[in-house]
This record gives sequence, C-alpha cells and structure tokens, in this order.
Amino acid sequence: MCGIIGYIGEKNASPILIQGLRKLEYRGYDSAGVAIQDGDTIARVRSVGKIENLAARAATEKLPGTVGIAHTRWATHGGVTEENAHPHTDQSESLVLVHNGIVENYREIKEQLGSEHIYNSETDSEILAHLIGEHIKESDGKLTEESFRLAVECALKEVRGTYGLVVMHKDVPDYLIVARMGSPLVIGVGTDGYYIASDATPMLAYTKKVIFLEDGEIACVSKTDMQTFNLKDECVVKCVEEIEWNQEQAEKQGYEDFMLKEIHDQPTVFEDAIRGRFNVEEGTAHLGGLNMTEEEMHSVKRIVLIACGTASYASMVGKYAFERLAGIPTEVDVASEFRYRDPIIDKHTLVFGVSQSGETADTLAALREAKRKGAFVRGIVNVVGSTIARETDGGTYIHAGPELAVASTKAYTNMVAILLLYALQFGRLKRVALATGERMLHALLEIPQKMNEILDTAEQIKTIAKVYANYDHMFFIGRGINYPVALEGSIKLKEISYIHSEAYPGGELKHGPMALLSEDFPVFGIMTKDQLYDKMRSNIEEVRARKAPVILIASQGDDTAKELGEHVMYTPKTMELLQPLLNTVILQLFSYYVAKELGRDVDRPRNLAKSVTVE
Ligand code: G6P
Repeated sequence: MCGIIGYIGEKNASPILIQGLRKLEYRGYDSAGVAIQDGDTIARVRSVGKIENLAARAATEKLPGTVGIAHTRWATHGGVTEENAHPHTDQSESLVLVHNGIVENYREIKEQLGSEHIYNSETDSEILAHLIGEHIKESDGKLTEESFRLAVECALKEVRGTYGLVVMHKDVPDYLIVARMGSPLVIGVGTDGYYIASDATPMLAYTKKVIFLEDGEIACVSKTDMQTFNLKDECVVKCVEEIEWNQEQAEKQGYEDFMLKEIHDQPTVFEDAIRGRFNVEEGTAHLGGLNMTEEEMHSVKRIVLIACGTASYASMVGKYAFERLAGIPTEVDVASEFRYRDPIIDKHTLVFGVSQSGETADTLAALREAKRKGAFVRGIVNVVGSTIARETDGGTYIHAGPELAVASTKAYTNMVAILLLYALQFGRLKRVALATGERMLHALLEIPQKMNEILDTAEQIKTIAKVYANYDHMFFIGRGINYPVALEGSIKLKEISYIHSEAYPGGELKHGPMALLSEDFPVFGIMTKDQLYDKMRSNIEEVRARKAPVILIASQGDDTAKELGEHVMYTPKTMELLQPLLNTVILQLFSYYVAKELGRDVDRPRNLAKSVTVE
C-alpha cells in the first residue's frame, strides 16, 4: 500500500527522499511524488508510474532544500493520475501533506468546507489538506509552530478513518507535523536530522534508532528536536528504540517470510476491504463500482464467477452467498475452461472476474469472451490499474495491499469479503430482511477481532502441523460452505509443502477416494457448527473406521470434537456464510508450518508463479 518518507535535517533532502521511495517500492504503488521546502517556498513534483520517472523530473528541477516529504501512492479514491498523486496542498497552496489511510467522512468534510474550495484531485487526502488549511485560516495572527500544531489537531479531531500523515507549511519553515491513526509511522533519529516513514526500511541506511508513533499521537519535528502530543494536546514521552532488522527483515516487518506477514495482515486489510462500503441502518452494502441501476440488477438471472486457483475457491464461497442471499443461480467457472467452452451467456448474465493480480491470462481472456457475448462484466481485483480492472465495466478493488508470497492468503479473504458484500447488496434488493442484513454486517465487523483470536493460537497450530509434515498424502473434506474451505486448504498445502493433497465434499469420499485411506493417509475435516454439522460428523466417523488419522477444525465450545479427531483446532463462531473467513486462516497457518517444518521456501514455491500472464 502507500508509503511515506520524510526528512528534516542538515543534508540535501531530495536524494534521501527519492532513495527512500525506492526502498518503499516493495509495498506496491502506481504513482509517486515529492515536495521540498527551501526557506519559504515549497517545490512539488509528482509523476505516474515508476520512481525512476519521478527521479528524472526531480533531477531536472534540482529541488534544493533540507526538509521534505515524499509518497508512493496505491490508488484507492480516484484513478492513477498525476493530480491524484501525493503530496497534496490546501486551498492556499501553502500547506503540503502526504497521507496514508482513508478519510471515511471525506464527503461530509467536503460539504462542510463549501463550494469555495476548489480541488485538483479526486482524493480524500486533498480534502484533509483543505480541512487543515481552513483551521489555519481560523487561527489569528502569524502562523507559529504552536498554532500550526493546534490547527492540525483540530482538523484530525473531525476526521473519521485512518491516517499516517506528514504535513509542512511555507510559513513555518524547518518544521514537520507527523500524525498517526491506524496507519503506521516510524521516526528515525539520525545524527544529522530526523527521518519519518511508514516503515523502517527507508531509514535503515542512516539510522537504527527509531521511535514508533502510536495511534492518536502527533509528533512535531524540527531539525534538532521532536516533541510528541496526544489528541488532547498533552505532551507524551516517547522512547527511542534500537532496531536490529536488516533491509529484508524490515520489509517483512519482523516476520520470517512474506507469507507469514500476509497471513497476519488479514485483520487489518479485511477492515480496508469493507470500510465505507456498507450501511448498517439499511442493512446493506453499497459497492458503487458495480455500476448498475436497480433495474439492471433486477434483470440479472444468472451470475458467473470466473477465476483461477485460490481466486476460484474464494469465488465458490461467493456462489453459496449469492444463491442463499439473493436467490440468483450462480456458477464458478475456471477461466481456462470457460474461455473454450462456448459458454451460454446473455445480457441477463452478470460475470465477475475475480483476480488478485488482475493480469491472469485465462481470466482476462474469459472476461473478454463474456463481454463479447453481451454479459455485464465486472472485476473483483487487488492490483489497481491492472488489465482486468481497466477492461471491465466496473467492479471493486479488494484493498488487500501488495501480496508478495506466491501462495495467496490475504487476497483470498478480501475476495470473500467483497463477494459477501455483493451478495448482500443483491440479496437486500430481493429477499433478505433488514434484520438479517444488519446481523450480517455486525458479524462482518467482528471478523478482524476473531481473526486475531486465531492468529493468537499460531503456536498450537504449529505444534499440530509438525505432526503431519511427514505424511505423503492428505485429504481435506468439508460440506456446504466448508467445501470451498477444504479446497483452499488443500491447494495451500500442496503449493508450499509439496505434500500431495486433494479436497472432497464430505459426502463424496465413499464414492472412490475412500479406497486410499489408511493409517498413513490423514484426513483434515472442517466440521464447524452449521446446517450440515451432523452429516459432516458421520463422514468423519466413516474416515475413522478406516483408521485414517483425523485432524479437525471445530467451533469453539464443541467439546465432542475431541472424540473424533486426533487433533482439533478451534475456531470462533460467526454467521455460517462468514465462517470461511476464519476457518481458512487456520488452514493457511497449518500449511505454512508444515512447509516450514519441511524446510520449504514458502514465499517462492518451486514451479509456481505469482502472476500467470501466459495461457
Ligand atoms: C497463480 C497463483 C495463485 C493464484 C492464481 C490466480 O496460480 O500462484 O496464488 O490464486 O494464479 O491468480 P490471480 O492473480 O488471478 O488471483
């Protein structure tokens, strides 16, 4: 996601900032920009695409000065354009800021600021700059460090949402205001000045002494000093910590691998996926990117979800949700099959292409085919500005942030989140009652905390995973909404551990696969309390009768599960349709620890690619 770097000190800021942006590239971005203060002027350069484009322009413009801020942007509000790139200015163009996060109430703030405010971008961040600028206008007399800080504090009290923010002002030279709420910021303490960044990577070349800002804190940084306040304007004492990480460890934020980091990212990025996209009072979702009138939505008689790999298993959860909530027949089509099958598609079909990268060749070709046949074609995509995002007539970004490990984890959960929201949006138009919609939204809001509960049990999952690392084969079984969970668990295991695994609906085992079961062939059952719980128990009994070792995921409080499984991992309860969001996290951790036990390169498994852009 977006990255911030700022510098204030003795050295020339421009090379430090451009180099810092390069170090932040791993977070993913689509545009970048820099602003440097020199006395009472601030020069700003922004550019779409690679940092090199920005570096070339910064070199031409020279940009003298020892104070500055810079940013890599990953589009959320508004497309990938130079105007939308940071830094942004206020109405007077005296204040310049970079912002990570999302201002949820940006529309209200814009309305409150009134029509005299002219904006140059489509971003929520520019509105935040104008809001601070307005508070500065209200403060009497010459702008001082203190009145500047108070204006920022006042503005931030009006903001709902998240921010990691660095602000500077022409009239207060050599002074940066840094604020955090939900979006991390680190301040590096160097011998020549201070470095501010969204993570420690860009400052490691200069210092290992850092101060981690907490939510609700505001730091005021000059060339030689810094002071921290809370939103009540009280002084806060901060400790300087010494970090041991090298560059690569810093990118992984202390986790051993990107995959483990991405598994742990899930509670946060899940919030990013659903934020601002529903209305609890109306019990529904509002995914504006759908780009369809209510009449068009009513005309949809069939939904087809097109995807590959993990995205197709996320789509299968979507199928259950669309059918149950909206009563619309829904199919999941593997893209490589769909494109050659001469599928029956017409103008009453809504096709979603579901893809993390937005570049998967088969998914793209299948969507083009669906478009040709007259369907509504929409994307559910992670990478902003990717080909699928550009070629579809609307859709929704899943906001999972850059996913670098080949095996998909956080993109899966965010795909499921968006599909559930779409299913609710269609469902509310058709047959879902307000109370059910409200209940589902409340349940979605509780998911991050429940994911954290699971992540807290990682050590137990690791212990169990070690027991199963030396088997050659494994089955995953589930029923109903847990069948796609079994499929996802199985692909995760084979992708990164190279253990042979297959997934089946629980009831299907006796139609062939059961012939393989023995003491050497464990079966992983997903047996949470749902409509098919009793059926699933019977299937597990059948497995036990064949002496196969059984591992289970069971609902918290289901003590009888211990009678059935050699090992049981417990998951928090939620609404049945949402259960995959939790159960899958356990399976991700299980596969991860099996693979680690076997010494595999979990981030780069053999023979696989992150983005498959060939057929
Ligand atoms: C590759 C990746 C998988 C991914 C699939 C679809 O096989 O290794 O992790 O699920 O492609 O990719 P997409 O970018 O379209 O979601």
